[in-house]
Amino acid sequence: MPDRPYVIDEMISAKQIAARIEELCRAIRTEFADTDKLVVVGLLRGSFVFIADLVRELEMPVEVDFLEASSYGNEMESSREVKILKDLRGQIEGRDVLVVEDIVDTGYTLDHVLHVLKSRKPRKLKTIALLDKPSRRETSVRADWTGFEIPDEFVVGYGIDFAQRNRNLPYIGKVRFTGEG
Ligand code: PRP
Repeated sequence: MPDRPYVIDEMISAKQIAARIEELCRAIRTEFADTDKLVVVGLLRGSFVFIADLVRELEMPVEVDFLEASSYGNEMESSREVKILKDLRGQIEGRDVLVVEDIVDTGYTLDHVLHVLKSRKPRKLKTIALLDKPSRRETSVRADWTGFEIPDEFVVGYGIDFAQRNRNLPYIGKVRFTGEG
């Protein structure tokens, strides 16, 4: 599949993403106004760019932790079986936690991660996803905050890969295949 030729068309610019993060951070600051130190949990690997911009815009005390859950591997379709590949370093019992996802597609990843984290009894557990593809949902999960709702397009950039490439694009792009390869 990665050998098939493709181009990437810009879909959401870096400027649009930055403006939306500013708005989202205002809402998050209000929600966690009485929080001592917020635990911001990035889901690896896709959220690493989003979480970096998000915590710098938040301007409040945060602890950054990561969890790696994977359902896709190098495939384009979800296997629906979510595995925790790397767990949090810190404890979240009694803490206020914000889970950061790059994209919610079928919802299996976020659903499973929330199930696992809830069992650890955080005081408050909220979620934010940069992108949401509601038309692909196979679970009832919904992020508390969403950057952009998008149609069922194959997107890359700003942390999101295609076969481990294109994560470092500063914008969200749409993959357009140009031939059979
Ligand atoms: C992708 C993406 C989300 C998840 C969304 O992760 O980063 O975490 O799939 O899909 P879902 O809603 O259908 O579960 P992936 O497993 O590809 O790992 P990555 O973040 O390391 O790229």
